[in-house]
Amino acid sequence: MKKIAVLTSGGDAPGMNAAVRAVVRKAIYHNVEVFGIFGGYAGLISGNIEQLNLGSVGDIIHRGGTMLLSARLPEFKEEEVQLKAVEQLKKAGIEGVVVIGGDGSYRGAKALTGHGIPCVGVPGTIDNDISGTQYTIGYDTALNTVIDAIDKIRDTATSHERTFIIEVMGRDAGDIALSAGLAGGAETIIIPEENYNIPEICARLKKGQERGKKHSIIIVAEGVASGPDIGKQIKELSNIDTRVSVLGHIQRGGSPSAFDRVLASRLGARAVELLLENRGGRAVGIQNNVIVDSDITKVLSEIHHIDLDLLRLSKELSI
Ligand code: F6P
Repeated sequence: MKKIAVLTSGGDAPGMNAAVRAVVRKAIYHNVEVFGIFGGYAGLISGNIEQLNLGSVGDIIHRGGTMLLSARLPEFKEEEVQLKAVEQLKKAGIEGVVVIGGDGSYRGAKALTGHGIPCVGVPGTIDNDISGTQYTIGYDTALNTVIDAIDKIRDTATSHERTFIIEVMGRDAGDIALSAGLAGGAETIIIPEENYNIPEICARLKKGQERGKKHSIIIVAEGVASGPDIGKQIKELSNIDTRVSVLGHIQRGGSPSAFDRVLASRLGARAVELLLENRGGRAVGIQNNVIVDSDITKVLSEIHHIDLDLLRLSKELSI
C-alpha cells in the first residue's frame, strides 16, 4: 500500500488525536502517503479528504477531541451510502483506512473492507465497551475526570451531610460507573450489567445514616436510568432527600492521560502495520499490556464483559 487514510468517528474520546498522530507519523516513516478524512463517514462521503504531513499532526498529542472532527452517521448502514464512500476513496487513490472509534465505527470499517477497501479498527471511545481489548482510548482519561468530579462532590456532600447521585456516561456499559465508583468510594454503583434494587439501596443508606455516616455517594450509569429518576425512587420509598449531578459531556473532553497517549500511540502504529501487511478487516487492542489484533467481525459479534468482581469488592468495601 502506498496511500492510506485515517478517520475518527462516533463520540470523540481523549487520545484520538494521539492515535491520529501515530497513524500519520508511522505511515510517513514507512514512506506511505497518508490522508485525513474530516468529519467521520459523513466527511468521507462528501470527499472531505486532505493529505497530511508530519507537521499536520504536530502539537496535538496532548489535546482532547479530534483534529479530524467526528460525526455519527446511522445511514452508513445502507449499502448505497457505503458505495459512495468507496467511490470517494478510489477517486483519491486510497488503498486502506484506519478507523478510530467505537462499535458503530467498526461496523462501517467492516462494510468498507467487504467492499474491497481494507480497514483496521482502533478502539476509541470513553465507554470501554469494545470486545478484543481490555482498554479503549479515552476511557482512562474519562475515568479520571469522573473521579475528580466525585472528589469535589464529596466535599460538599460531607459539609451538608447529603446523599448525592452522580450520573455518568456509558450507554450500554457500566465500566466508567464501576471503576469510578470503586475509586471514588461510592456506597452504591448502578450499572446496566446488574439489576438494581431500590429497597436494598435505601436500606444501605439508612444503615449508613444509623452508624453516623456523614454522606453517601451513588453512581449510576446513564444506560440504566437517569440520576433524577433514581433520586425520585429513593425519595418515594425512604423519604431520603438527594442531590443529583449529571456529569455529561465533560467526561468526553480534556487532555488525555499518559495512559491514553501511550495506548493511542501503540494502537495507531500497529493499525498502520496491519494495513501494510495487507491485513484489513482487523481490530487492534491491548491484552495484558500486549498489542493484539482480532477479526473485526468477531469483535463486533462478541459482548464486552465487565469485571463483576469489582462490583462485589466495592460492596464489601463500602459497608
Ligand atoms: O459513546 C460514547 C458516549 O459518550 C456515550 O457514553 C454516550 O451515551 C454517548 O456517547 C453520547 O453521544 P452524543 O454525544 O452523540 O450525544
